[in-house]
Amino acid sequence: MKIDQYQIMSKYYDLLVCGRDHIINQEKVISKLINSSHIKLLDAACGTGIENSGLVKAGKEIFANDGSIFMLQELNKKKHDYKRIFNEEWINLDRIYEIESNYDVIYILGNTISHCPTIEYLLEVFIKVRQGLNKNGMFLFDSRNWIPVDGDEPYIQQGRKTNEKRVLLNSEIKIEDDCNYQNGKQIITYFVNTNNTHESFSLEYQIIPQFKFEELIILAGFNYVEIFDMKNEGTGYPYIIYRAK
Ligand SMILES: C[S@@+](CC[C@H](N)C(=O)[O-])C[C@H]1O[C@@H](n2cnc3c(N)ncnc32)[C@H](O)[C@@H]1O
Repeated sequence: MKIDQYQIMSKYYDLLVCGRDHIINQEKVISKLINSSHIKLLDAACGTGIENSGLVKAGKEIFANDGSIFMLQELNKKKHDYKRIFNEEWINLDRIYEIESNYDVIYILGNTISHCPTIEYLLEVFIKVRQGLNKNGMFLFDSRNWIPVDGDEPYIQQGRKTNEKRVLLNSEIKIEDDCNYQNGKQIITYFVNTNNTHESFSLEYQIIPQFKFEELIILAGFNYVEIFDMKNEGTGYPYIIYRAK
């Protein structure tokens, strides 16, 4: 991951994501998967803390981590209930385990795991996550449900055309984005305009189909993986949640 992918995004992340229906619905599903036997949790890509805010937290100890110091700076401006916050790349999660030992649940949410730059890196991350789980612990992550197409780009985001700007926010701060596919990655470029500033930045997502995630999870040593398609939850959220044990 290029950690500074989130440097500019950190300033606008909450504005773009907070309160969106799909996040709220996803939190409901995650809250059902995390049960009373799960006490110690690690939000391994906490960002500004949004995805965590709607989880059921009674009786839980929640630790946080993120690779971007800029996202953590935004998180630290807010009131939050994480027990402790770390700033490590996933590949170095073992540094956290050395300090705070293992977890009942580790989660990487918000269409985030696809930021892994290569399949090899992703496999390493899955192995690192597994190392940090207690017996009977579980790993939760989500990913876009990429759809197969013919031609050079074998998988894409459904309904998302290339080089077509969408308006995400149209207020004092206007934010638009467009999408391109290159070398098995989706590149979303954001354009932010206010009266005084004009800036743009891109986020990259590796396009990993469901079967590949399942294959890698097993290769990493997990026993099985279950799929929760958010479409079946009646939410319209175009993402899949994976639970690996
Ligand atoms: C889309 S945000 C999601 C944040 C939060 N989970 C949410 O749903 O709002 C993705 C986060 O993953 C972090 N991230 C991406 N790649 C990472 C890596 N290799 N190691 C640690 N954090 C990473 C980014 O810094 C960013 O804060």
